[in-house]
Amino acid sequence: MYQFPKDFLWGGATAANQFEGAYQEGGKGLNLADVLPGGKKRLELMGSTGFDFEIDQSKYTYPNHEGIDFYHRYKEDIALFAEMGFKVFRLSIAWSRIFPNGDETHPNEEGLAFYDRVFDELHKHGIEPLVTIAHYETPLHLIKEYGGWRNRKLIEFFDRYVETILTRYKNKVKYWLTFNEINGATHMPLFGLGFSPENEETRLQDSFQGLHHQFVASARTVKKAKEIIPKSQVGCMLIYAPVYPFDSNPENVMHARRESDLFNFFCGDVQVRGEYPYFAKRYFEENDIKLDIKEGDLETIKEGTVDFISFSYYMSRTDKKEKTPEEMGQGNLVGGVKNPFLKASDWGWEIDPVGLRIALNELYGRYEKPLMIVENGLGAYDKVEEDGSIQDDYRIDYLREHIKQMGEAVKDGVDLIGYTSWGCIDLVSASSGQYAKRYGFIYVDKHDDGSGTLERKRKKSFYWYKDVIESNGQKL
Ligand code: BG6
Repeated sequence: MYQFPKDFLWGGATAANQFEGAYQEGGKGLNLADVLPGGKKRLELMGSTGFDFEIDQSKYTYPNHEGIDFYHRYKEDIALFAEMGFKVFRLSIAWSRIFPNGDETHPNEEGLAFYDRVFDELHKHGIEPLVTIAHYETPLHLIKEYGGWRNRKLIEFFDRYVETILTRYKNKVKYWLTFNEINGATHMPLFGLGFSPENEETRLQDSFQGLHHQFVASARTVKKAKEIIPKSQVGCMLIYAPVYPFDSNPENVMHARRESDLFNFFCGDVQVRGEYPYFAKRYFEENDIKLDIKEGDLETIKEGTVDFISFSYYMSRTDKKEKTPEEMGQGNLVGGVKNPFLKASDWGWEIDPVGLRIALNELYGRYEKPLMIVENGLGAYDKVEEDGSIQDDYRIDYLREHIKQMGEAVKDGVDLIGYTSWGCIDLVSASSGQYAKRYGFIYVDKHDDGSGTLERKRKKSFYWYKDVIESNGQKL
């Protein structure tokens, strides 16, 4: 039996671009996700240099355009979340619904009104919104005209967007997250920073410069939030993957430690402690990274530290200093070698519930700030049985084992305040652009060939999660 805090925030998580659809309705401008094709090419394009940011319907499909049509079906979906007993629902605001190009001076009223309706509907059911301000959705115009977050001008545009939404929703939204998986930027600058590197040589320099701009923008957001909504809670959002040394060879232990510092803690140190970490100087020197830091930036960062830390957890990473291509893990987005103790999902993501307890202890040990897990879940193929049911026991097993480890971490003394599992309703996968990679408690009848009615169905896990929430994690 595990004891979760009385007001524990159980719920689910989504992102606008992966489920809203209606990509050209309500005055919305195009954003990054609108030009990312579905299917196999997607990951290749995202990781490559020189992506052209054009839509080519003759070559590709674009599942994000329709998503699962939450834009029109939000009432039905929120009612289903309420039926499961959600206390919190994580969603993002699509920046380009509010400022279609990103650099306008006046917002788009239709976009603002849409989120008013969504927040009102959530409150009607007693569900607290948790809003990600930027979730891989940089307005396309800012990418094409300004080069994404490499350009310092984005801080100014983001400020305007942030002030607009904080003011508009000040009586409706208390919990805010600034940049989704901010530390994923150096791996995949396209997603978080909205640029495709010209070449490998400039990738790191541009990524860290873009990150610096986001650190300043995030800190300014925290300060603004406190002014406009004194009771607000603003968190950072990290992608966290504990790094295990492959063996006890001290060289591998040191290597794993440094990889973890750079990947897991670099951004957290800036956003939580308000300072670049001690190891940054050497890393920047050795990689020829020269940051353009303007006067006042470091003070801003120091003054705008976050109230809590949120993170996504899908997998751990095992690493060694010298590795051959054959040893590399398949499908593990954060890299590393195959871990012989772990099984992987159908997409090759290694499944490691204990890694979540390790993550919680590492983060809490370092920062001693409240933690929230805002993404975790299993992307799997689901089958609709003849009787219309979906028997997703594999998903229940996955979630149960992870929640147990959360319970262990709470026993360890970690201050864990919430859990929103990823893709609580089936949606479009971020990395593969597929509908087939399903995470939801709610099945959506939509398929990669474009077919499907968009009808919603409760999976077996729907009823299981309802019990988990009702019993505050006692009934797993
Ligand atoms: C996280 C992202 O990296 O992982 C989400 O914040 C994403 O947007 C989730 O959907 C799961 O990844 P995928 O590629 O399976 O959709």
